Amino acid sequence: MNALIRAHSGLRYVVLGLLIAAIFVAYSNWQKRSEGDSKVYLFAFIATHTQLLIGLILYFVSAKVDFDLVSEKVFRFYTIEHIFMMLIAIVLITLGRIRSKKLTGADKHKTVLYFYAMGLIIILAAIPWPFRNLGAGWF
Ligand code: HEM
Repeated sequence: MNALIRAHSGLRYVVLGLLIAAIFVAYSNWQKRSEGDSKVYLFAFIATHTQLLIGLILYFVSAKVDFDLVSEKVFRFYTIEHIFMMLIAIVLITLGRIRSKKLTGADKHKTVLYFYAMGLIIILAAIPWPFRNLGAGWF
């Protein structure tokens, strides 16, 4: 359980790094009207889905997930806000990935750029950063 939380916590930086890299690559490929896919789109997608998998397991075992205690800030955050926002973000990234695979040229990269950027913004907003006082640290 503790190892899973540590993995989930550390993996946030892999997810953020790969999403930012994918967004830069998508912008550059869009401008160049380049054909073909980029591996970084796939890696960002895989990292996000790995985080989803660990998150789902945590959701069932975490002491911070309890519907009876949602009147308290920390419980409400993990029981409702964190999972809800992360699911929306992951759906957007998945849509971006699937749609972009069916497109070619500039449209492909523009789709990755828009959907991954929307996902990234939501993920940034839904991470329990230490300054939000939700009992989580930087790592
Ligand atoms: C890209 C998506 C996600 C990111 C970046 C992320 C990030 C984080 C971070 C940084 C923490 C704090 C860990 C700590 O205490 O140090 C956390 C906790 C948690 N996350 Fe996520 N998360 C994501 C998606 C999800 C999803 C989809 C779920 C549920 C299905 C989920 C469930 C949880 C739970 C239950 C905890 C609390 C664990 C505990 O301390 O008991 N996460 N998450």
